[in-house]
Amino acid sequence: MSSSKTIGVLTSGGDCAGLNAVIRAVVARAIQSYGWRVLGLKQGTHGLLRRPVDFAVLDLQSANPAMARMAGTILGTTNRGDPFAYPMPDGTLKDRSEEVIEGVRLIGLDALIGIGGDGSMAILRRLAQQGDIPFIGIPKTIDNDVGATESSVGYHTAVMVATEAIDRLQPTAASHDRVMILEVMGRDNGQIALAAGIAGGADVILVPEIPYSIDVVAAHINKLRQSAHNFAIVVVAEAVRDNTGAHVQRQHMAGNATYGGIGHVLGEALARTTGAETRVTVLGHVQRGGQPTWDDRLVASAFGVHAVDLVAEGKFDRMVAWQNRRVVDVPLTAAFEPAQLGASDDTLVHTARGLGICLGDR
Ligand code: F6P
Repeated sequence: MSSSKTIGVLTSGGDCAGLNAVIRAVVARAIQSYGWRVLGLKQGTHGLLRRPVDFAVLDLQSANPAMARMAGTILGTTNRGDPFAYPMPDGTLKDRSEEVIEGVRLIGLDALIGIGGDGSMAILRRLAQQGDIPFIGIPKTIDNDVGATESSVGYHTAVMVATEAIDRLQPTAASHDRVMILEVMGRDNGQIALAAGIAGGADVILVPEIPYSIDVVAAHINKLRQSAHNFAIVVVAEAVRDNTGAHVQRQHMAGNATYGGIGHVLGEALARTTGAETRVTVLGHVQRGGQPTWDDRLVASAFGVHAVDLVAEGKFDRMVAWQNRRVVDVPLTAAFEPAQLGASDDTLVHTARGLGICLGDR
């Protein structure tokens, strides 16, 4: 590819720690190794809908090593406003995909690198196919639910934050003989809950993939309370259902809903069934902030460099992925393969059971 090429990079979906490290790696590789121009598109596809198109020229000064330490995304992002069904002020949904594609043409992009989760990746791929845009995807999400990659950018930091929360809850739980419930994020995936619960030494971990019985959890806690260990730490993933089988959700003014609140439901149920004093912590968006951990920065850097190399090779409709300690690339459609926790042979599930952690089912 000649030095006159211009590539675009955007972040899409919920933010997480490590996005700036990806952007920095894309810029460093594209400029230093290939002499390309890099445009950072603002707020996902929203920037491409604005006229003039909203972007910033990224140089080595703006995308420097210090930036790799910062959480959030310097480009901004959005998890609203699918261009194929864009919410208009009059309440209708409009297909604005051609405007996005026109935006790509207006700024003369030779290729687009999109950093997103599975939902964003599906939208960006559809745009790329419709507009014949050479596209590469980079997986990011604290939920770690993108297919074909062992790790998505942001996951390790979220697990670290949740683990630290357990570390801090443990002494106060022990001091007051309380049952502490920690609700963590993860959407329909229990990986943050399981990984942090194992690392932090939780007594009970509840995940959406494994149906639980409150009686089983209460019996486990009662057994603990009869021993010298007169307190308990319970980690619950936000998408775990209540005793009616329903998700606990919060409805937002914008009309959308997110999971949240199962911790309080569980806290009350456990106070009733065990007689223990319970307290609930809902960790929320702190899991997406803070400095990225070293491994998120590493994966982010490897992903950014490899994505630019794919553009140089002319290999498109690919997603970079982390497999067996290496960065690889896979067909973009692999992003949509299920990445749920496996059954009993899943390493996280098996390890938790091996440590005697109650998963609520037996
Ligand atoms: O997908 C990432 C995530 O943080 C989920 O874990 C959580 O359910 C959701 O996003 C929260 O979305 P929002 O940022 O819209 O509150």
